[in-house]
Amino acid sequence: MKMWSGRFRQPLDPGFESWQRSFPFDKQLLNEELAASAAYAKALAGIGILSPAELEQITNALRDIGTDAQKDPALLDDEESEDVHHFVERQVVTRIGEVGYKLHSGRSRNEQITTDLRLYIRAQIDATLTGIAGLMETFVRRATEAGERTMPSYTHLQRAEPVLVAHWLLAYFEMFARDADRLTDCRKRLNVSPLGSGAIAGSTLPLDRHDIARTLEFDAPTANSMDATSDRDFAIEFLQALSVLGIHLSRWSEELIIFCSQEFGFVKLPESYSTGSSAMPQKQNPDALELIRAKSARLIGNASAVTINMKGLPLAYNKDLQETQQPIFDSAITALAMLQHATGFMREVQFDFAVMAAAAQSHFMNAFAAATYLVGKGVPFRRAHEIIGAAVRLCMDKGCELQALPLSELQSLNPAFEQDFYDAIQLNAVLDCHDVIGGTARARVKKALAEAGGRIAKLKGEAHAHA
Ligand code: ARG
Repeated sequence: MKMWSGRFRQPLDPGFESWQRSFPFDKQLLNEELAASAAYAKALAGIGILSPAELEQITNALRDIGTDAQKDPALLDDEESEDVHHFVERQVVTRIGEVGYKLHSGRSRNEQITTDLRLYIRAQIDATLTGIAGLMETFVRRATEAGERTMPSYTHLQRAEPVLVAHWLLAYFEMFARDADRLTDCRKRLNVSPLGSGAIAGSTLPLDRHDIARTLEFDAPTANSMDATSDRDFAIEFLQALSVLGIHLSRWSEELIIFCSQEFGFVKLPESYSTGSSAMPQKQNPDALELIRAKSARLIGNASAVTINMKGLPLAYNKDLQETQQPIFDSAITALAMLQHATGFMREVQFDFAVMAAAAQSHFMNAFAAATYLVGKGVPFRRAHEIIGAAVRLCMDKGCELQALPLSELQSLNPAFEQDFYDAIQLNAVLDCHDVIGGTARARVKKALAEAGGRIAKLKGEAHAHA
């Protein structure tokens, strides 16, 4: 039986009937729907709408639907059910008869779907946080292994200054830490219970909404029924947070794709995460990275689809909201897989530290430090910049680096140069002169690495607190 056929005289157009159904995708919410329904049944019993015996019947039926669907997913091949809410109602009634219809007393699918989505996203956030923590751990391990190895850093993709490889890796650690933080924040705001909001104006039954919230481990009931039944802010926040995570993973992929090219040669692709070419026998391609870069576009697309869907909706529920589901499922699943493969790749990838170190010591990347040396000798920075610029010019004509210029030549540019200049522009000195919080000085990076462990432990604690 349909959930709404009473006032209709004509059947639905068969094509439209199947087109408007959401069960083909919202069957993914079965467990959430069962949990929410069990909590709702308990509340109905609390106000005497269900007798204790009826509550037990309904609760058992809900439990059995879950176990049966797990045993045999074919249970969900159901052409009749409009959506997961309809499916559960039909299943309950099949199992226990007419009393099953009592479950929907005072209830609306409008509050059910938003409850299910909150439960679903909450679980996905916890899984994503665990995935992010694993990825961050891998970055920290690789950064620790890299020790004091160096590489060039780039601005405009032109060589800028040498940095520790660990400093580079920890840049991504910070991005992922913010991603985790955004998801944790989203979780806090989404964790309220819409049940009891009814179709729009609030339930017609005096339900104990606090009790329902507690049963489902929500922090509180939602405060306004019109908002609650049409709100998808939590979905937008989740999808946007995943988009930003996707942007980070995509930038990382892009960088490694550049670094593994023959032109750079900083990175040796792991065979376990590459494929070959059907035509060119010599090829090893960075497919894992390319797919991660591409999947991030899906995350951004899904976030855009839901964001745009919401912007024109009058209060409260509109069927447009059904269209928010698939982007949510797709992004949740896509992001988890991206994290899994990024972590696997990062575990396996090899760095060619010799090539990186050679690159870190060429193309005048100590020029900023050289100018800073002159500042230390009392030369105003703008002048120092020009003097080192002139020295670089000289080197370019000669085909050498700054350290190869004899002191006499340097002193002809400016008398402030002394013998200690050569020590000041050596690789380690160049690194260590960036001795500020967040800088690439060796001691600073060591400290950042030491702190990273504690930050991951805290994140894991947060993810597992809910598991
Ligand atoms: N399948 C619907 C959705 O996903 C459930 C809510 C239906 N409510 C309604 N008034 N038709 O949005």
